[in-house]
Amino acid sequence: MTTPLRLGIAGLGTVGVGVVKIVRQKANLLAQRSGRPVVISAVSARSRDKDRSVNLDAYAWEDDPVALAQRDDVDVFVELMGGHEGAARLATEAALAAGKDVVTANKALLAHHGQSLAETAEAKGCVIRFEAAVAGGIPVIKALTEGLAGNDITRVMGVMNGTCNYILTRMQDAGLPYDQVFAEAEALGYLEADPNLDVGGIDAGHKLALLASIAFGTRVDFAGVELEGIQRIAIEDIHQAAELGYRIKLLGVAQMTGRGLEQRMSPCLVPEESPLGQLKGGTNMVVIEGDAVEQVVLRGPGAGEGPTASAVMGDVMDIARGLRISTFGIPARELAEAKVAQSNSPAPYYLHLTLEDRPGALAKIATVLGENGISIDRMRQTRHSDTNAPVLIVTHKTQRAALDTAVEAMRATGVMVNDPVALRIETV
Ligand code: NAP
Ligand code: HSE
Repeated sequence: MTTPLRLGIAGLGTVGVGVVKIVRQKANLLAQRSGRPVVISAVSARSRDKDRSVNLDAYAWEDDPVALAQRDDVDVFVELMGGHEGAARLATEAALAAGKDVVTANKALLAHHGQSLAETAEAKGCVIRFEAAVAGGIPVIKALTEGLAGNDITRVMGVMNGTCNYILTRMQDAGLPYDQVFAEAEALGYLEADPNLDVGGIDAGHKLALLASIAFGTRVDFAGVELEGIQRIAIEDIHQAAELGYRIKLLGVAQMTGRGLEQRMSPCLVPEESPLGQLKGGTNMVVIEGDAVEQVVLRGPGAGEGPTASAVMGDVMDIARGLRISTFGIPARELAEAKVAQSNSPAPYYLHLTLEDRPGALAKIATVLGENGISIDRMRQTRHSDTNAPVLIVTHKTQRAALDTAVEAMRATGVMVNDPVALRIETV
């Protein structure tokens, strides 16, 4: 008789219920594939009385996830509560201290505490797996740590927040303004409890920081991610970008340069016909470039019960099979301190300005750009109101630092009605 792998699941929301369903419905398949039964010993959530559309009678109940994590009949603590402090952190630390392996979908927890948790895990001979934390159902952590382990990774990029991609594509397809689509997304339950995690780019920034750690062998450095959300993207920008042959995406890019590690998560223009430009709704896409493989593109559902539970189960099955890989691909103490480099690789930029409609206003802006060494590729002045002149400029390649200086100088001209929207045009 083979020894079962016994799970303790903390969190019975969207993801937790999905995991319980797979364990219940696919018991034979899981046992065949891993060579041993995978069973649930105990579960925990805040409310014991909530109807969760799945039968939990066979499992012990713990009100306290820390107690669950410490149970003798739990081999793997499955953390599906969320949040980077409180119960999720305490229970994960308790599980590791008790010598349990951990599977989590919690990108915030690992983005903030990944290094210390990984060090604790390795000191205790435990593993932490987190496939579900990045890009939902896409096995991107497995691709980086295993399938592409023979490569020097040169760049990782992608669309990693389904909610933002839903909002941006819905604005595009229905011609609706940001506020209306945001309200729709909220009504559909797509937004995190704190919506700023999604639309502020924070959730996607967490994911990028985790991928960068594995890709470049550096300690997770979420603080080093340059973050910009999608809140200022207007329907006008979506239309203007489309007329130029682009789509706007919340795009993450991490690359190691001679100056250090660049990590940025920001709305960018990408060519409409590119795989990233074609990405619709809640779908995620991660592009990995390595010296040997050249380029790998992974695409799939970024969230939801089934896709996220699928990723959690992939990790569980690896543990059941005896696969034990360092949290971020190499032993935690060998991860290098990330040297933060400001993203400064040159790119063309899209600038949307609203100027006072008076003589010399546009000339002042053109002068500022020229004085900062920024050359104009295309320019259009459209859709005037009585007093304002919206101006669209596409620059030739320039560095972000030069653009930021120019924007500061534009503010000082006194001809700008509001802050410009400046979006990088990314080559993908
Ligand atoms: P959720 O639906 O809000 O469920 C959270 C669960 O955790 C609930 O069952 C809740 O209990 C329980 N919980 C919260 N605080 C607790 C505490 N202090 N003690 C005990 N139980 C507690 O969240 P979710 O969408 O399943 O997400 C779970 C994790 O997966 C998060 O880290 C999230 O970022 C990550 N993730 C989610 C998705 C997705 O598509 N949803 C995708 C990728 C990653 P009650 O039910 O009793 O309130
Ligand atoms: N809020 C996240 C998203 C959930 O929209 O992608 C999945 O991590």
